[in-house]
Amino acid sequence: MFNKSRIEQFKHLPTPFYYYDMELLKETLDLIHTESSKYGYHVHYAVKANANPKIMKLVQSYGFGADCVSGNEVTRSLETGFSADKIVYAGVGKSDREILTALEAGIFCFNCESIPEIELINELAEQTNKTARIAIRINPNVDANTHHYITTGIEENKFGINRWEFDSVLETLEKSKNIKLEGLHFHIGSQITDTEVFKGLCIRVNEIQQWFNDRQIFVDHLNVGGGFGIDYDQPDVNPISDFVTYFGIFNQFLDLKPNQQLHFELGRSVVAQCGSLISKVLYIKNGAKTKFAILDAGMTELLRPALYQAYHKIENITSVETEEVYDVVGPICESSDSFGKAVSLPATKRNDLIALRSAGAYGETMASRYNLRDIAESIFSDELK
Ligand code: LLP
Repeated sequence: MFNKSRIEQFKHLPTPFYYYDMELLKETLDLIHTESSKYGYHVHYAVKANANPKIMKLVQSYGFGADCVSGNEVTRSLETGFSADKIVYAGVGKSDREILTALEAGIFCFNCESIPEIELINELAEQTNKTARIAIRINPNVDANTHHYITTGIEENKFGINRWEFDSVLETLEKSKNIKLEGLHFHIGSQITDTEVFKGLCIRVNEIQQWFNDRQIFVDHLNVGGGFGIDYDQPDVNPISDFVTYFGIFNQFLDLKPNQQLHFELGRSVVAQCGSLISKVLYIKNGAKTKFAILDAGMTELLRPALYQAYHKIENITSVETEEVYDVVGPICESSDSFGKAVSLPATKRNDLIALRSAGAYGETMASRYNLRDIAESIFSDELK
């Protein structure tokens, strides 16, 4: 992925930094645009995956909407050019202030996760003389077959409204004069690589929609969330996920009513592969059984391995020596600050450059200042001469 001249440029930049391949991002966005337009689907970009303004501006230029989970994400989306009528806003803990921000902006839809939240939005909308458009976020009890930390659509999760509460939701809506129910929303988890899971979701959504239709409740849109996974093993072979199959599944299995809109909230599959975390080797240290390659990047720049035991491909992009085995770790004072155990890399020495691949999603947005670390810079391919 990195040609020689690019690597030469990297050598002169202060590390660690996030590197974004804007050409790859454009190719990905082109395909998502083509495939979703075929069926007239609406795509909202899940800002939580990467909220870098330059990335958001590019995504926005394709006409996509934004999927937000905080008042600040709503504000950032507006600042980067997303139009309010394409913003959806989910989250189990929306504060009064955040709801007011979104009401003031006139967003497309609140994806509501509980009855007390619907009541509060109604109250704040009444106070500000507005009508809030909402979708009920429904917990469809579909297992996404992914890491349990990023599964969201089974009954034991905190997300969404469970089936046994539907009657009470309808009673609440009946009383909520400043709320307009416009949609049903679902999101079952992230990094889903088994497309059968999405088929299962479609079938469950059809059943749930039928329940509402049987009670004479018809909604303008369905929102099936995000969750489409990427290939962390082969960022070069499969840099763009198979959106043809993905959108095709919904077209084939979801019962969309005439004139009903279908919305998606894609995060990881949009931005993961265009980003890498580039880091320098500080030391090679002999351990009891292994050799450690100690990097100047750690869990503060890429939390996923420490938090979910997630795999990111690790490459030494400056060495061509014969391979040796290393535990690749960061400098943070935590044993979980490790990017990979027993990783085969070309013989590695101080100042070699290491790329941690597929770091465009949930990399920069999950960075922290733990150990009072500096926040890493972002470097964009189209700004390097
Ligand atoms: N919609 C909702 C309501 C969500 O909660 C999420 C992600 C998305 C859309 C976007 O999902 P995606 O297309 O990116 O899978 N930090 C974790 C991932 C957490 C995902 C949270 N929700 C990770 O690094 O794997």
